[in-house]
Amino acid sequence: MSERPRIVVTREIPEPALEILRAAGEVWVSGADRALAPGELREAVAGASAVVSMLQDRIDGEVADAAGENLRVVANVAVGHDNLDVAGLAAREVLVTNTPGVLTEATADLAFGLLLAVTRRLGEAERLLRDRRPWSFHLGFMLGTGLQDKTLGIVGLGQIGQAMARRARAFGLRIVYSGRSRSDAETALDARYLPFDELLSESDVVSLHCPLTPDTRHLIDAHALAAMKPGAFLVNTTRGPVVDEPALAAALRDGVIAGAALDVFEREPEVDPGLLELDNVVLSPHLGSATVETRTAMAVLAARNVAAVLAGSPALTPVPSP
Ligand code: DGY
Repeated sequence: MSERPRIVVTREIPEPALEILRAAGEVWVSGADRALAPGELREAVAGASAVVSMLQDRIDGEVADAAGENLRVVANVAVGHDNLDVAGLAAREVLVTNTPGVLTEATADLAFGLLLAVTRRLGEAERLLRDRRPWSFHLGFMLGTGLQDKTLGIVGLGQIGQAMARRARAFGLRIVYSGRSRSDAETALDARYLPFDELLSESDVVSLHCPLTPDTRHLIDAHALAAMKPGAFLVNTTRGPVVDEPALAAALRDGVIAGAALDVFEREPEVDPGLLELDNVVLSPHLGSATVETRTAMAVLAARNVAAVLAGSPALTPVPSP
């Protein structure tokens, strides 16, 4: 009888996903309550046929070499895959999969929640009450910014960007978008394509939904921030490095833009100290997909990808190699 394939899972995942993996091979799950350090990761993957990875795991050719010649698939439990060297893995005939689709609605919900939180100053309001500071209702008290007939600029009209646009339309926002190319969804969403620079200068809120690539790293830098309207807001639920955090902190401090809501950070779990000091920024710790239903669906999809590849079938959601 041939040996069962070794499946390495770099952090605990929901039980329904583990059940699928156990049927497909011998499963090892890291018991550490943190991401594995690079050396630990290389050690853990030795002899693996499949790795179920988290978005903090940097998996490149070196890690694949540490796994050895059995390695066939790396299943990332995330739609983003900037943590994986897809080309380096493809060169070693290792397939990469991600989890598109299942986290679209949850992530758009959080992005829109952040948009509301920053435009209506909810973080600031909560802090005021928790600090037991005096307050009384009056017509000028803690005024926010209304959304109706304002313009939302969506950078990247992929699945999550489209889900954001649907929510925004229900709130009376006009939609403009930019991206590498025009989207087929623009008519249905009544979304107007604009070059990135024009989107920055026309939008009252800019929401980032593009993947992190060499082209989008620091897409929002001091120059881009200066091109935004002075009363505008920035929402980031994609990847931290799309925004130059120190430049954003300076822009928020100096009133270059009105506010920002951030779910992702350049050097997670760190947050630029300049941002932590500001009242006009709402922060959440990478919670875009953090619902019970969505996280379970993500892990199950990753597990089904592993099971399919180990059974010799096509992966359900492969990441195309560059
Ligand atoms: C992803 O899937 O890329 C998200 O960032 C995880 O919530």
